[in-house]
Amino acid sequence: MTAPLQASPQAQPRVLSGIQPTGEFHIGNWLGAVRTWAQQVAAQAEDLFFCIVDAHAITTEYIPAELHRRIWTMAGDLVACGVDPDRCTLFVQSDVRQHTELAWYLANVTPLGDLSRMTQFKEKSEGREHALVGLFTYPVLMSADILLYRATVVPVGEDQLQHLELARETVRRFNHRFGPIFPEPQPRLSQAPRIMGLDGQTKMSKSKGNTLGLFEERDVFWNKLRGAFTDPQRLRRSDPGRPGVCNIFTMHKAVSTPDEVELTYTECTTAQRGCVDCKKIVMESFDRELVPLRARRAEIAQHPDRLRQALGDGAEKARRIAEETMREVRPAMGLGTGAPAP
Ligand code: TYM
Repeated sequence: MTAPLQASPQAQPRVLSGIQPTGEFHIGNWLGAVRTWAQQVAAQAEDLFFCIVDAHAITTEYIPAELHRRIWTMAGDLVACGVDPDRCTLFVQSDVRQHTELAWYLANVTPLGDLSRMTQFKEKSEGREHALVGLFTYPVLMSADILLYRATVVPVGEDQLQHLELARETVRRFNHRFGPIFPEPQPRLSQAPRIMGLDGQTKMSKSKGNTLGLFEERDVFWNKLRGAFTDPQRLRRSDPGRPGVCNIFTMHKAVSTPDEVELTYTECTTAQRGCVDCKKIVMESFDRELVPLRARRAEIAQHPDRLRQALGDGAEKARRIAEETMREVRPAMGLGTGAPAP
């Protein structure tokens, strides 16, 4: 078996991640992934690629005009969050055709059985009479997104770990058969890799309608937060709470100061603080983080031309790197006429 490739010591590690432009950009996306992206952009210690994965968003029913609008909204949201296109490569997946090309090639080193074990496919296809082939092969496209840039670090939420493990397995299979072309990517989890929805029962998710939107009006955000489920066993104000099972405490850990988190723990477990008061405090912490993001979002909306330029530049750079990879992949697989004639 071929040894896994390492990034050369002098090269910066290459990071790639993606987000679907579907539904609303919620605090699960932000705390689970995008806030980490922005921290990496600020640190400038790595070569960063962030991708709006529109080709993934067509694997369930959608309206074309709506998808098109959402791509632009997502781009503006990401920039407002600190994913500054001057300091990283921000682009839209379908602007770089090599993603779908490599996905087809990788489909031919991926066993059916591996895809049928993917829990996200099982969840998303459940109850659908006509689940699409694209939904089934979705993780192959995700592997292509990562491998195309030979990324070694992939910052994601916990729900993407299984897909990433498949990408690693795909690298091993591909390199074994065709030569050492791809490095094995490693996941990078944030401190809040799994944010539960407002129902407190399932992961916060666009498809479950249990989200808190990052750029939602403050009143709407607060009304949703106020109604969020907490510890189900805390029926009366005088019952001590269990922070370990409470979603609001998870949010505190992600956005409140360490002192506030400690105080919250103490006051919750001794019933000195009620759930509504606890939510008011976490709302203040959210305000501290989100008010500047919302202001930046409004400013970005004033300059659609800048965003267009940034995505154009991002796609151009991404295409260049992607094509370098494909120039190795095609001849290694015996495809095309790029290699010298036999
Ligand atoms: P997507 O668009 O569903 O979510 C984007 C990112 O947000 C994270 N996330 C969460 N983290 C914590 N708690 C939650 N409730 C929560 N909900 C979402 C996700 O883990 C993800 O990191 N398949 C991917 C997109 C993708 C991708 C890639 C990611 C396509 N190609 C290549 C990395 C590398 C997805 O659907 O993410």
